Amino acid sequence: MASIAALSSLSSEHQKACTSDGISSIKTFAESNDVVASIPSSYHSLPHDDNVVDHLADSIPIIDFSLLTSHDPQIHANAVRELGKACQDWNLFMIINHGIAESLTEEVMKKSAEFHNLPLEEKKEFKDEGLFAPIRYGTSSHSQEEKVHYWRDYLRVTTFPEFHFPHKPSGFKEVAFEYTRKIRSIVRELLQGVSESLGLEANAIIEPTNFDSGFQKFQVNLYPPCPRPDLALGLPAHTDNGFFTILAQNKIAGLQVKHDGKWINVNPLPNCLLAIPGDQLELVSNGRYKSIWHRAMLNDKNTRVTLAIANGPPLEKEIGPTPELLEKEEPLFKSIKFKDYIELQQQARCVAGRTLDNIRIT
Ligand code: OGA
Ligand code: NI
Repeated sequence: MASIAALSSLSSEHQKACTSDGISSIKTFAESNDVVASIPSSYHSLPHDDNVVDHLADSIPIIDFSLLTSHDPQIHANAVRELGKACQDWNLFMIINHGIAESLTEEVMKKSAEFHNLPLEEKKEFKDEGLFAPIRYGTSSHSQEEKVHYWRDYLRVTTFPEFHFPHKPSGFKEVAFEYTRKIRSIVRELLQGVSESLGLEANAIIEPTNFDSGFQKFQVNLYPPCPRPDLALGLPAHTDNGFFTILAQNKIAGLQVKHDGKWINVNPLPNCLLAIPGDQLELVSNGRYKSIWHRAMLNDKNTRVTLAIANGPPLEKEIGPTPELLEKEEPLFKSIKFKDYIELQQQARCVAGRTLDNIRIT
């Protein structure tokens, strides 16, 4: 394993965003690792007792976005019902006919991969300086605090309400701007549909949460081939913190979700978007629509790239169960500022359990 020695000679600048093994990019490590049959033991994270089933993968709901936005009241009402059912029964769905050109998604994918392909030295200026820094490049999950590491490099950028973005590679910023704005408007429609499916006014969630000034984070995950996909994980089991994360991938599978206590491989349809309900959706729906546990598996052949766009309320906004719902039912959760919730989630990751349980009214 010559590469660990090679990596430890990296500048001290870089080591700030390293794992305890001195790895600041798993991509660089994987490419320089000549002993292909082993990985550092700190990357052993896949639980052994997991129950994975495949036969349910085909029943993941598909939402036709063009029907949800239809002006025909009957078509729209049916689509709203389907959406509510998808949130209720599966806490996950694919979106087809979403209106984002395949060429745009492919361009964002291409530029995202180009970013990760830049030499480490060129990405140094973007290195992760903490939870709320606008541009963060790093590896694993919380590389400095965690005991176990994950086989992933990331770029996380705040794209709303202020649009931040790396200035390289050229053209990345422009396509990411267009893409993230389109995703925001899709999520807005989803939130309106969700409100209606709960029997509320279309704007019942958007207005009190001030979604139109909400926080959006663009994230590129890069999972290099891993010689031991039976031992390591790209990302551990977690729920996302916003309303919806919208995920697209470079045709390489790897996402698993937990459904009825079992892990299921998700193989999205070509050019669909995957909607992953997050904790804020569970919170505003007063527990009706739950966030979903998911994780990223690895393979030993292909680099997997995913775009995960997280959409939430404004960081400073206090969020609780939707007021209109509370006219008829008791709140299941306390209200909490979104920013505080994100911090709570960071702390809670060190301990097992759901972050939402911390604000549950018992
Ligand atoms: C995430 C996430 C899954 C994937 O970025 O929050 O869950 O398959 N990603 O990349
Ligand atoms: Ni996630």
